[in-house]
Amino acid sequence: MEIKKLTNLHGELTVPGDKSISHRAVMFGSLAKGTTKITHFLEGADCLSTISCFRKMGIDIENNSGEILVHGKGLHGLSAPVDILDVGNSGTTTRLISGILAGQNFVSELTGDDSIQSRPMKRIMTPLLSMGADIASIKGNNCVPLRIAGHPLKAIHYDSPVASAQVKSCVLLAGMYSDGITSVTEPVLSRNHTEIMLNYFGAQVTSEGTTASIAPEPSLFAREITVPGDISSAAYFIAAGLLVPGSEILLKNVGINPTRDGLLRVCKDMGADITLLNVNMEGEPTADLLVRTSSLHGTTVGGEIIPTLIDEIPMIAVMAEGTTVIKDAKELKVKESDRILVMAENLSRMGADITPTEDGMIIHGGKPLHGAEIDSYLDHRVAMSFAVAGLLCDGPLSIKGGDCVKISYPEFYEDLYRLGE
Ligand code: S3P
Repeated sequence: MEIKKLTNLHGELTVPGDKSISHRAVMFGSLAKGTTKITHFLEGADCLSTISCFRKMGIDIENNSGEILVHGKGLHGLSAPVDILDVGNSGTTTRLISGILAGQNFVSELTGDDSIQSRPMKRIMTPLLSMGADIASIKGNNCVPLRIAGHPLKAIHYDSPVASAQVKSCVLLAGMYSDGITSVTEPVLSRNHTEIMLNYFGAQVTSEGTTASIAPEPSLFAREITVPGDISSAAYFIAAGLLVPGSEILLKNVGINPTRDGLLRVCKDMGADITLLNVNMEGEPTADLLVRTSSLHGTTVGGEIIPTLIDEIPMIAVMAEGTTVIKDAKELKVKESDRILVMAENLSRMGADITPTEDGMIIHGGKPLHGAEIDSYLDHRVAMSFAVAGLLCDGPLSIKGGDCVKISYPEFYEDLYRLGE
């Protein structure tokens, strides 16, 4: 994929629906009684994997170009899958669905692509096993493929060693099929879409500090859901709008849930000109973001903010000016690629001064970036971050595997070039 240069970006854009919320809407809609209607659903490959898994378990899901109807059958309405469940590249599908499958009355198997087959699943197997679940890694390496023989579970309190919404959600979902109140405490609060949406569907989920608890056997009822624009997809346009000279863009209806808005806080710290308009704090908070070219300076990103921007760190690494330090972000190593090494390798190829560390990276920004051949390692967030870098550098930039943007943003390049001149 060759990146075309743009001299400035102007106009309005509605980014696709939030990936995390789209997954959950399909999953919880499947476990609710009645028809859940989802608008502005993200038709990225990951969310389509979730749809395909629930279809294989007998749920009728209609997809009318972004408007989804999920004909849910209730908490105990899934049937034994007709086939192995293919989660594709999706960590969210794998980890959340495992919590659900652990409490069913049938056996299932999960598989996926090479990337997902190397990502850690022990983090969900440990709490599920202590709930009495029968879950095993078929190759014995604590990765996908997994075999799960569902049955009723024991309620637990789980102290999670990682701040991970996927782990938290897995345990809460399994908790619905357990014999009491199940709770999870995490070291730092991660995204809370599961808690918000399960309550909206009629479950009893409470949150106090970094602990979330759920009551068993909820009756979930179908709902209408409008998915907000994904701040993780907006991130590339925020960065491009700030960095490409002479730009002014309006990103409409972007999710600004405080457990996801760390990028906005970091941008502000770096001196960015971003104005929030039409702020709506009901349910999942949203706003329009007016982004204007700004001159940025360095910052340190670490501690409690990390889970609120974990998927935006590749983009922040490209944006870094002055001296920018990213720390406490070891989780980057176990994403769709090792994002610490992959960002350091590719940014170095473009002439950046970047040093990978154990839990992040140190970037001395301001060095002119030049064209290069970048390897996305089939990681969608790496590809999109370098597409923005390609707008800023001298000389041509090409991205190996640039098509992988289809995982979370199928129309990414079209949207980028539409806003540019
Ligand atoms: C997600 C949680 C995050 C994030 C991922 C989506 C979710 O992962 O990186 O893209 O939908 O719950 P972790 O929970 O593993 O940090």
